Amino acid sequence: MRRGQAMIESSMPRWIAHRGGGSAAPENTLAAFKTGLKAGFTAFECDVKLSLDGVLWLLHDDTLDRTTDARGPAAPWRWENLQLVDAGSWHSAAFRGEPPASLDQVLDFAAQHGVWLNLEIKPSPGQDVRTGEAVARRVAQWMAQHPSAPRPLLSSFSLAALQAARKTLRGLRADAPLAYLVQTYEDGALEQAVALGAEGLHTDWRQVTPAVVDRVHARGLKLRVYTVNDADQARALLAAGVDGLFTDRLDLPARL
Ligand code: G3P
Ligand code: MG
Repeated sequence: MRRGQAMIESSMPRWIAHRGGGSAAPENTLAAFKTGLKAGFTAFECDVKLSLDGVLWLLHDDTLDRTTDARGPAAPWRWENLQLVDAGSWHSAAFRGEPPASLDQVLDFAAQHGVWLNLEIKPSPGQDVRTGEAVARRVAQWMAQHPSAPRPLLSSFSLAALQAARKTLRGLRADAPLAYLVQTYEDGALEQAVALGAEGLHTDWRQVTPAVVDRVHARGLKLRVYTVNDADQARALLAAGVDGLFTDRLDLPARL
């Protein structure tokens, strides 16, 4: 299913497939993105970190334990070894042998299908600045090569990573939107997002009320919420005016 640029929304679509393909495929693999695309999604979130040798790749946790057949912290691994681990079997036999995705593979996928990316900068411990800079450099280069493609949205729980990304983008005269991610909505977090020059604030859906949406919109930012897997909750959040929902349930948009 290939989508032409002209058919793609002019801003980040409301529904965003969490970790590539939600719970339908092993998170943060290329198989996940393909599964999300097949289900009709045109926007994808994923978690990006750095390998020891400076390759950007996708993994949510600090360790390889939960989502691969390897064990221990991810930070000491080189990409040549990471690409040999099995990041699919933990999910189901159908995905046995699926490798972790590199950011380059995901950027190629986005260029090929004209879809939106939210790259969550998820640094290994102590790697916040280095990872923020590396993601920004790679994205700036990719945007220059694909001037009409939707610009990737860079988000992070790490303010240090976002500040480093912003500085790098500015230094390269590149313009990618940023979003500050928080586990709990607070007015202070909103002000930090504003100070950062962010395009949006991303937060857990549980504290989000219509008044919170209004406060965020009044400061000129978008509000996107994770991880919404229930139809009634999704309806209430959309009625409250949220701009985006991250979901593990690929069937949810069609149900609504
Ligand atoms: O970026 C939204 C969401 O993915 C943040 O939480 O832990 O799933 O990365 P997490
Ligand atoms: Mg994430």
